Amino acid sequence: MSVHPGPSLLVDNIGELVTNEPYGEAGPLGIRRRAALLVEDGRIAWLGPAKYAPAADGRIDADGAAVLPGFVDSHSHLVFAGDRAPEFAARMAGQPYTGGGIRTTVGATRAASDDTLRANVSRLRIEALRQGTTTIEIKSGYGLSVTDEARSLRIAGEFSTETTFLGAHVVPPEYADRPDDYVSLVCGPMLRAALPYARWIDVFCERGAFDADHARAILTVGQAAGLGLRLHANQLGPGPGVQLAVELGAASADHCTHLTDADVDALASTTVDWTSGSETTTVATLLPGAEFSTRSPYPDARRLLDARVTVALATDCNPGSSYTSSMPFCIALAVREMGMTPAEAVWAATAGGARALRRDDVGVLRRGARADLTILDAPSYLHLAYRPGVPLIRQVLHNGVPQCQ
Ligand code: NIG
Ligand code: FE
Repeated sequence: MSVHPGPSLLVDNIGELVTNEPYGEAGPLGIRRRAALLVEDGRIAWLGPAKYAPAADGRIDADGAAVLPGFVDSHSHLVFAGDRAPEFAARMAGQPYTGGGIRTTVGATRAASDDTLRANVSRLRIEALRQGTTTIEIKSGYGLSVTDEARSLRIAGEFSTETTFLGAHVVPPEYADRPDDYVSLVCGPMLRAALPYARWIDVFCERGAFDADHARAILTVGQAAGLGLRLHANQLGPGPGVQLAVELGAASADHCTHLTDADVDALASTTVDWTSGSETTTVATLLPGAEFSTRSPYPDARRLLDARVTVALATDCNPGSSYTSSMPFCIALAVREMGMTPAEAVWAATAGGARALRRDDVGVLRRGARADLTILDAPSYLHLAYRPGVPLIRQVLHNGVPQCQ
């Protein structure tokens, strides 16, 4: 495959182009065959049948391969130090996952220099990019002090505009016997320090972390300060998180592993016809890497999809419950273990993630959208689930620029 960079770039000879722009017989993935697309100034300037492709300064020959929007990973925790491989080994020997190990990573993160944290985020960001992820949300949540949360977000902001303040991940050890005081800290000085660097606010709403009252207080104050809302909800057991996310108009309820019928109905009640906008939908973001790495039952994506809930897939990349940066791995798990079709899983990993971040410029390939795309080493998107564990990402364009593979 030859690459000739220039001010305009034609991706030519695409066998199967996934646009996520449904039309006619193209299905929800908006598939076009024998297509080409033109990139100018980091955006898609033209897209259509290869035989009508305009002239361009540079050309990438896709050799009949499949081309997809870059993956939109709408949930990750990349700012941390150390790892927890022994904890993983203990789980695989039968120990349950409780979230208690988060405090181990908090200790390591607080002790690390800015440069160490930055190098770790950079390594993981490159790892994700090589696997086709062009947009990634990054949370804080392993600092849990005013200065450590602010620096975590500052460093996250060097790698993504989708940064999320997760000061309410767990109550840190120094506040163990006074959780209300910690919530006051999160809602006051910590939020103020985080604000310049954050677009979103998130809470781990779960037994052993934060209850519904704490979560509501934190999210409400964050929203009043201008942040968008997301919530870790119903991961380890049933609970109030999903319905709280819907009540507050959160962009996303994440995990959704243990749902009642009322939870599913609440999520479904927010679904809109996408042509009329996405600003009120609460997306169910499923994170199968977490169930894989904690040996837990997977969320039932089929139940959500059949209820017309908007579903996203993301990695949850973190050193405890899901140390993977691979969206293709999550797609394969979702298809094999969660009742999704390959088309539904690919949509959820691209357009679904974009909706979870309330973005309309990514996760889709159409004129004017960001030129974020992947060229597969395969003739069809189906191969992402059909050939699990195989490195199928041949080339990635991010903002129209070919990335090193
Ligand atoms: O999304 N659930 C809370 N937070 C992470 C786990 C973090 C950890 O174990 O370090 C999650 O799974
Ligand atoms: Fe998470």
